[in-house]
Amino acid sequence: MNLDTNYLGLTLRNPLIVGASPCCDDIDVCRRLETAGAAALVMHSLFEEQVEFEEAARYRLLEGTAESNPEARDYFPNLEDYSLTPDLYLRQLARLKATLKIPVIASLNGYRPGGWVDHARRIEATGADALELNLYSLPTDPDTDADTIESDQLFIIRGVIESVTIPVSVKLSPWHTAPAHFIREVELCGAKGVVLFNRFYQPDFDIEDLEVKPQLRLSDSSELLLRLRWLSIVSPHAKLSLAASGGVHTSEDVIKSVLAGAHATQLVSAILRHGPGVVTDILYGLVNWMEAHDYENLGQVRGALNLSRCPDPAAHERANYVKILQSWKV
Ligand SMILES: Cc1cc2nc3c(=O)[nH]c(=O)nc-3n(C[C@H](O)[C@H](O)[C@H](O)COP(=O)(O)O)c2cc1C
Repeated sequence: MNLDTNYLGLTLRNPLIVGASPCCDDIDVCRRLETAGAAALVMHSLFEEQVEFEEAARYRLLEGTAESNPEARDYFPNLEDYSLTPDLYLRQLARLKATLKIPVIASLNGYRPGGWVDHARRIEATGADALELNLYSLPTDPDTDADTIESDQLFIIRGVIESVTIPVSVKLSPWHTAPAHFIREVELCGAKGVVLFNRFYQPDFDIEDLEVKPQLRLSDSSELLLRLRWLSIVSPHAKLSLAASGGVHTSEDVIKSVLAGAHATQLVSAILRHGPGVVTDILYGLVNWMEAHDYENLGQVRGALNLSRCPDPAAHERANYVKILQSWKV
């Protein structure tokens, strides 16, 4: 059975990637993930805020502010606590590259143009096989329109792509007005792939203490449906690689993602919940399903149910929505 897949120009031994998360913080866990069958891994992100904090702290030290002002000294931690953060990231990347045989994808996470983008070059120089760019922004200003947000994002994407030679993928928000169009724009910038989708942290309300509670819930398979829809719509046209992220927990989820057109799937919640062994279980289920359905390679499965190839394209579209709504009775 041939599970090879081409993702961002890299040949992966199967479509299971460990998504950006703390899974890659521990070398031993990464080794276990590789042994369990993971085909690549994405490091947790280096955040724009981390980079800028380090730069601001260095500047203050150089200017003497942090030394001369006791309040500032309280505010800025010891040099060792903050100034090495991006350096530590690169050191972890170097360690992963030295230990693992599978590709290691670094991740940059930001939302504004700026110096943090220069870190793409340092990431490339340290040996990352690819770079995933996560443009996590939460526009709260009603004066900022969608066009401005998208133009800013494309500006950042172009800047990163022009500064490195390794393949760059972009992890997208599902909340674009016209995702298919935006993905084409991302492709025109030179990105080699897109990850559908980023999963936004959503705070809850505490109605007794009247507080907004930060929380991070792990996903379940129901979240995959949004990914399946957009993979199906985008895959007939896209020339870049497509990865599903969000709600991939089982071999069925991987099969569905590939049928929708994904070249790869990223797992985080499933690994955090069940440990590295879940990767082996999923691969086992994938191979069994392919054998039972007489598939010899993943290429035969990819896109078989996307918008242009599924037997009933209306099932993806508005017509089916009306039918489904009318099927409910009280
Ligand atoms: C604890 C945790 C940490 C994460 N850290 C990052 C990160 O650093 N960068 C990033 O792009 N995504 C991050 N994510 C998002 C995941 O990469 C992924 O997109 C999301 O969890 C959906 O996938 P899942 O359903 O398999 O969990 C994180 C998710 C979790 C649960």
